Amino acid sequence: MFEKISPAPEDSILGLTEAFKKDSNPNKVNLGVGVYKDGGGQTPVLSTVKEAEERLLRSEATKSYLPIDGLAAYATLSQEIVFGSEHDILRAGRAATVQTPGGTGALRVAADFVRRISPEAIVWLSDPTWPNHPNVFGSAALQVQSYPYFEAESNGVAFDRMLAALENIPAGDVLLLHGCCHNPTGADLSSQQWQEVAALCAERSILPLLDFAYQGFGDGLDEDASGVRIVADHCREFLVATSYSKNFGLYNERVGALTLVADSAEAADAANSHLKICVRTNYSNPPAHGGQIVAEILGDPELRQRWEVELAEMRNRINDMRHLFVETLDQQGAGRDFSFIARQRGMFSYSGLSPEHVQALRDRHSVYIVRSGRINVAGMTEANMDYLCAAIVDVLK
Ligand code: LMR
Repeated sequence: MFEKISPAPEDSILGLTEAFKKDSNPNKVNLGVGVYKDGGGQTPVLSTVKEAEERLLRSEATKSYLPIDGLAAYATLSQEIVFGSEHDILRAGRAATVQTPGGTGALRVAADFVRRISPEAIVWLSDPTWPNHPNVFGSAALQVQSYPYFEAESNGVAFDRMLAALENIPAGDVLLLHGCCHNPTGADLSSQQWQEVAALCAERSILPLLDFAYQGFGDGLDEDASGVRIVADHCREFLVATSYSKNFGLYNERVGALTLVADSAEAADAANSHLKICVRTNYSNPPAHGGQIVAEILGDPELRQRWEVELAEMRNRINDMRHLFVETLDQQGAGRDFSFIARQRGMFSYSGLSPEHVQALRDRHSVYIVRSGRINVAGMTEANMDYLCAAIVDVLK
């Protein structure tokens, strides 16, 4: 059976990391995968994470299985960070949360759930979107289609075209929206645009699925949740896929959550029983360690306050790098207006570099960028900025 298998294509993002590791150029720069680097070019373990781990090491009494839907405290804290602790949805018991292996795990559980409940539903993805989105939903045997999102002319959201496309989505389909820090473009909806999209979803009975992987990396924890909370104001049913990979730096612990909001507590309970079947048939129950770290930090006011400071440091460094990148490109004579990069938010921006530029950057300068031209701003440092910008200016010549 295996003799006839030809190799599958490399992953367009994680495959780059493999190639980067093999590159012997001491000046190499990886702006591919969305991983945060500090000013020294390292991906640190947050000090609050270390402290939570020390506490857990002392207090942990068993490695027995977690429940299928994970730690109850983790679920509650995850809902509170998305909606705010006093939100009506929480008071009414309209939300159910399952702990998942990362944000990708949350998306896959969402996909299996939709397929189970409504197999004909089409999942609508922004054009462009995270390259793994179509694969995750396709693997769950759901149909995917795309709606216009980004326009190169303004380096912003093509909102009129987006809205016109959404007006034609049939009732019962799923609309995937990036909660904040759009991946790959860094271009987000304004509050007014969120209002219009959320109202349209409610009016047309479209199910919003919010991919919320970068909370706190844009403008702040509450600020970044404003789009999700606008959806909550308008829609009685929706899904939120949370990731703690970035904002807690817990990439390899695979910590995420899928939150389902239903019209009533009874409906949420019934839906949750199906989510649990999706979990049980995929990976049985979630790994404990990462979820325990997040629950320990979010559940302790002093630790949480220190984590928010660490998160703000990451956010501020990324936003500083956005400005420094634009200034350095300008100083080095790039001859193009890159100022939009300073206005965008989150880890990523669409640089406007073509696949040929991307290839030349890799071949001539060992600078690794996703083929679409997406750059991970969080991979830039003061130390690699001059080299990086000189390389970009060289390939643009
Ligand atoms: C990214 O987009 O680079 C991250 O979300 C990491 C990944 O899994 O692709």
